[in-house]
Amino acid sequence: MYKSIKSKCLIMPALLLCILISCARWPSNLKTAFKNDFQIGATLGYRFNADSTLKELTKTHFNVITPENQMKWGPIHPKEEDYNFAPMDTLVGFALQNNIKVIGHTLTWHSQTPGWVFEDGENNPAKRGVLLQRMQNHISTVVSRYNGKIHGYDVVNEAICDPKDGPELLRNSKYLQIIGPDYIEKAFQFARQADPDAQLYYNDYNLANPDKRAKAVELIKSLQNKGVHIDAIGMQGHWNIYEPTVEQVEKSILAYSALGIDVMITEMDISLFRHKDERDIYRESVPDSILQLQARRYGEMFKLFKKHSDRISRVTFWGTTDKYSWLNNWPVRDRVNHPLLFDRGAKPKPAYFAVLKAATEQ
Ligand code: GLA
Repeated sequence: MYKSIKSKCLIMPALLLCILISCARWPSNLKTAFKNDFQIGATLGYRFNADSTLKELTKTHFNVITPENQMKWGPIHPKEEDYNFAPMDTLVGFALQNNIKVIGHTLTWHSQTPGWVFEDGENNPAKRGVLLQRMQNHISTVVSRYNGKIHGYDVVNEAICDPKDGPELLRNSKYLQIIGPDYIEKAFQFARQADPDAQLYYNDYNLANPDKRAKAVELIKSLQNKGVHIDAIGMQGHWNIYEPTVEQVEKSILAYSALGIDVMITEMDISLFRHKDERDIYRESVPDSILQLQARRYGEMFKLFKKHSDRISRVTFWGTTDKYSWLNNWPVRDRVNHPLLFDRGAKPKPAYFAVLKAATEQ
């Protein structure tokens, strides 16, 4: 009895010491961990400014932020003569004060764009020239306001037709119907005119899917052939604990960087669910085995990013803590999800430590 207590007394401090020594080798935050590899970012939503925990977390870990909704056309330019800059100004102010870069998201997207943009005022589709003029006004007004303050823009978001919707290259959006395929190059040109120093990106989801990858390569090549200035492709990174495979992601990183542009992982989160699984099974708690599985997935993805850090210039999470993640309401409403590195109380999860560990490996 005495012997076993004595050996426990010796083992426990030794164990603690080992943990302390191994943690001491790890950096204490994400941005330091990847400082020689790529920028590391997160999105902030409308509520960030009232949440001091979130602000501290952001300052500690991230060197670049993206507005979750504040800069989409609907919120920032709800009516033709009406701009609502205040939420975006707040975010940019916070970023500048804390030496954090800002990504503008997004200038041209089929979603969260008000109906009037595509109409003539009498419920008919607007004419090509009218829509082009509106795009130019919108892009030049928004981009000029943040000249020198915003580092790069998702100029066009999700323009490619998802392979499950058809073989066409481009999504059948109102932009495409009214203007034609050249709306994409026009958006890039308008952004370039408004801020020649800002980086310009094309951003989309499912870009690790081989069929969508082929379409993305075709689109970027065609833009380059037309002389369009494009700095990077954003792979959204809305993944889950089952897919995509690391190999699929790697093939895409290689294919896109072979086009001579940077790759960015722009909207990363790893859902605990298969896409439309209706079961709300992690409302009360998540089994440790599932958190470990998520940690492994984050770890292997970050190992891959690190391996290709000469091709990847930024990795951004879509959110900061599980509490505010959009995945608690999409694609299944009110399904509690836990897709990020920090839990609902902003405490680091096993996934966080797996990401830090990946930073220390060669
Ligand atoms: C897409 C968009 C983002 C955001 C997410 C979900 O990925 O690019 O702006 O709307 O969907 O929140």
